[in-house]
Amino acid sequence: MCIKYHPERKVFELATLHTSYQIQISELGHLIHLYYGAAVNDLMDYLFEPFDAGFSPNPYAQKLSRGGSLDLYPMECSGINCGDFRVSSLDTVTGDGVWGADLRYLRHEIKPGKYGIKGMPSSRGNDENTDSRDVQTLRITLADAVSGLEVELLYAVFEDKDVITRAARITNTSNFPIHLHKAYSCCLDLPEGDWDLIHFHGRHTMERQTQRNPVMTGIHRVSSKRGASSHQQNPFVILCDRNTTEDAGDCYGMMLVYSGNHCTDVEKDQSGCVRCVMGISSEQFLWELMPGQSFDTPEVLMTYSKDGIGRLSRQYHRFIRENICKSKYMHQRRPVLINNWEATYFDFDADKILKIASQAAELGVEMIVLDDGWFGSRFDDNSGLGDWYVNETKLPGGLTPLIDRINEMGMKFGIWVEPEMVNEDSDLFRAHPDWAFTIPGREPSMSRNQLVLDLSRKDVVDWLYKTLSELLTRYNIEYVKWDMNRHLTDVYSRKLPAERQGEVFHRYVLGLYDLLERLTNTFPDVLFEGCSGGGGRFDAAMLHYSPQIWCSDDTDAIERLYIQEGTSYGYPASAVGAHVSAVPNHQTSRATPFGTRGVAAMYGGFGYELDLSRLSAAEKEEVRGQIRRYHEYYDLIHNGDYYRLTTDSRNRDYTAWQFVSPDFKGTLVSAVMTSPRVCLGPVRIRLKGLDPKASYEIVRMETFGCKTEALHSEKKVFSGEALLEGGIVLPIMHGDYPGVQIYLNVPVS
Ligand code: DGJ
Repeated sequence: MCIKYHPERKVFELATLHTSYQIQISELGHLIHLYYGAAVNDLMDYLFEPFDAGFSPNPYAQKLSRGGSLDLYPMECSGINCGDFRVSSLDTVTGDGVWGADLRYLRHEIKPGKYGIKGMPSSRGNDENTDSRDVQTLRITLADAVSGLEVELLYAVFEDKDVITRAARITNTSNFPIHLHKAYSCCLDLPEGDWDLIHFHGRHTMERQTQRNPVMTGIHRVSSKRGASSHQQNPFVILCDRNTTEDAGDCYGMMLVYSGNHCTDVEKDQSGCVRCVMGISSEQFLWELMPGQSFDTPEVLMTYSKDGIGRLSRQYHRFIRENICKSKYMHQRRPVLINNWEATYFDFDADKILKIASQAAELGVEMIVLDDGWFGSRFDDNSGLGDWYVNETKLPGGLTPLIDRINEMGMKFGIWVEPEMVNEDSDLFRAHPDWAFTIPGREPSMSRNQLVLDLSRKDVVDWLYKTLSELLTRYNIEYVKWDMNRHLTDVYSRKLPAERQGEVFHRYVLGLYDLLERLTNTFPDVLFEGCSGGGGRFDAAMLHYSPQIWCSDDTDAIERLYIQEGTSYGYPASAVGAHVSAVPNHQTSRATPFGTRGVAAMYGGFGYELDLSRLSAAEKEEVRGQIRRYHEYYDLIHNGDYYRLTTDSRNRDYTAWQFVSPDFKGTLVSAVMTSPRVCLGPVRIRLKGLDPKASYEIVRMETFGCKTEALHSEKKVFSGEALLEGGIVLPIMHGDYPGVQIYLNVPVS
């Protein structure tokens, strides 16, 4: 049993292989957070000693004993307007205009299996059809005796994954409406200490840059009110001890499984303790809960490691691969693809696409993806969005002859769509101007000259489902790249009354999930790739539907190293779409060697994004070699354990990373030199994750884009111990941005 209740001490004990989480019901029924950290075999209720502090009020029953201030308790669910002045996880107004609630224990339930969340993706157990022994659910119901507000706190414990998930269900049991001004998924109170906050910020073409700051007194906020999880602030944070490194020390991860507006507030309070609350952003959020109705929050995935941040990342990687992604392409091989976007942009016709496809097929590429521009009157990005029928000027005869020819070449065919958007200059907008978000009487903000469809409306979602289903049924489309190229403004739904406009942002996300759920269930064989101007919606919820997401619109190999490194803190390499593109690079104008571009892109869903017919004969040979190697390393990259061998790589001369097979018998080490090293000796890299007792042989060490100086040592076989403690020496590489891949394995004896 990984969840136990000790009635004599009123303590809930949640245990995973390496972690413990403990909660206690206080004397007055408040839910106290006792402990989260390394596994302990003891009850931790001695840890919290009630104390009195000036200006921290006590519950009425303790007005004389003065020791039970909710302002000083570590809480599982923040108090609201009853003495907990720290950042809250809930904010409600009841029918009689009362802000707040005094939430106390009502009942609990412990069950095998995983709770579900209505209308939203969440994690699942691996043996769902049995009684899900790998996961258990704890449901603790708190209630406010006066207002009729009930809050169920949901916990799922994934014992062997070291992951505990949290969510909340808020129910109105009164006879009057209750308004939710804030409905976060969780509240985690950490003890006093020197904590750092790591979060992942950025912008279009520069997603998930790592930032680590000390948590100072006050509130630090990571959030998005853009209607998407966003390029700017990912819904994922790590809280760690100031001394925690990649390989040692305490760290906690909190990741929201949600794709819309989000907020994480981290507050260091008056006593030096740190509270972290996470959930749907409360900005522009107001939910009316009618009598008998419930509101479900999205899920938070929590994990803890005492062995540093690298291990925390690997815990997330495994969990996302096995318990979040539902696509069969999590386990089935995904094809090497070529995408025509950077090769042609909007300027293509059937002949150009066929030429790219036939060249690609000859070199071993397995699928061509027709990007933006194949539909409606789409000759540039000012028109046509929403008209999901073929542009016959570019593709006379439609998609069928094109797909047939591509299939005859032995290639699969994939297509780009951006279903959530519409151009004013489109048949769809002319027919249904009210389907787009605009505020009556105002000119809307434009972004890429397009508007966002109101997915909070069922009629819009149903129309999209029908239109896309027809497209996927009529044509042999085996892959869909699902794009989203602007954020939400002018959010106002003509289908909802004035008092419910605060629900539209979240209802939009629910509409999106409904659409994706139905499509992915109807077309389980189609490989979906998420995208939002690159990695603007790179979150665990989208990974439920699409096992990979286009990581960034910046295809420059060097920039990609940093974006991929930041992404790797929470998300597995298998979730990253990465392509080799042309030089000078279209975003940065930088020239990197062809081989190095391959090293950087061999990270998840591998592909090309250039006109292969323009390559030299030598480069074409390199394409063949890259595809051959990618197939060989596929399992390591997609299913192996990932190790960052360098961190904060933007500030270093090289970036290095490593994949290790689950049985520790094979490893792929990749490195790219990002600035020249003059008069410096060769780079020596300590490897990670190997079996110290095994012997590893270098099967292949290949350098790219450089002249190398041969190594003096001809040693090819090393003990795991030597590689872990001493490391491996790279040859000295001269040239701009050289790369290296080293494949080692334990020889079969
Ligand atoms: C943004 C995507 O990230 C690109 O790869 C491409 O699909 C364009 N949109 C097309 O408009």
